[in-house]
Amino acid sequence: MTCSVSLVHSIADLRARIAVFRARGERVGLVPTMGALHAGHLSLVEDLRKRAERVVVTIFVNPKQFAAGEDFGKYPRTLPSDLELLASVGADLCFAPAVEDMYPPGFSTAVSQEGPAKADLEDHFRPTHFDGVATVVTKLLNQAQADVAVFGEKDYQQLLVIRHLARDLDIATEILAAPTLREADGLAMSSRNVYLSAAERAVAPALHRALTRAAERIRAGEEIGHAMAEGYETLVGAGFAIDYFEARHAETLARVVTLQDGPVRLLAAAKLGATRLIDNLAV
Ligand code: PAJ
Repeated sequence: MTCSVSLVHSIADLRARIAVFRARGERVGLVPTMGALHAGHLSLVEDLRKRAERVVVTIFVNPKQFAAGEDFGKYPRTLPSDLELLASVGADLCFAPAVEDMYPPGFSTAVSQEGPAKADLEDHFRPTHFDGVATVVTKLLNQAQADVAVFGEKDYQQLLVIRHLARDLDIATEILAAPTLREADGLAMSSRNVYLSAAERAVAPALHRALTRAAERIRAGEEIGHAMAEGYETLVGAGFAIDYFEARHAETLARVVTLQDGPVRLLAAAKLGATRLIDNLAV
């Protein structure tokens, strides 16, 4: 039997519901999302169900993390089917605030970060993005006051930004990382994959293949710069317009030259037509 998931829209209702969980001594887990849920998001809920008695999922397409000209207007919004999916994995509560409630008139604060937010990766191509992410995630963590929150390695730079902000701003919620869920052909699941045409969808798994091949070659002793250049060329040949295809330190995102500089993480962003894909892999 599938239960239904409760839906609240206001911050006051969210707090009241979480207060009831807490009064019963239940641990609360939080999964922030922008909706258009897929199996990757659901795996985060399932992960938290093992660690907390109650799982709260937030669905908010955050205008502050989209720049002018990005896909805020056309980002998929599928709340009814999202609620069914959340019920099927046993989430307890869904918080879907309106933009006017998150950012009422007079809202004038932003959370801005150096360090991993300024690594010359996503931030180079989306210069205002991480301020928007850091601001909304700080608000969501403060609103929910959960014991634990989980974020996907799929958005690797974002995960590091959030770990840093929680530490820097003394947010008590424990931040966990979850592995990237992939389609059978290796493509990282993403709400934006629906933008791909059939022809682009067929090419898209080459991004993960190029990362996998580069990681294998680096592990086998090939020079990092050489392995990455080969992957770059393969992707250009497959039709990708590459924003970056880089090897970085897995914790600081500093540039690395050899495996001795590391734990090493490979990070990539590339466009297929109008759709921008991101992915990353540990070496
Ligand atoms: P969204 O893209 O909806 O992703 C919500 C969470 O799901 C993020 O932690 C993301 O890393 C994770 N996720 C996405 N695809 C995944 C996959 N294939 N496997 C595992 N986890 C995956 O990331 C955001 O929303 C927003 O920036 C947010 C943090 C909610 C702030 O607005």
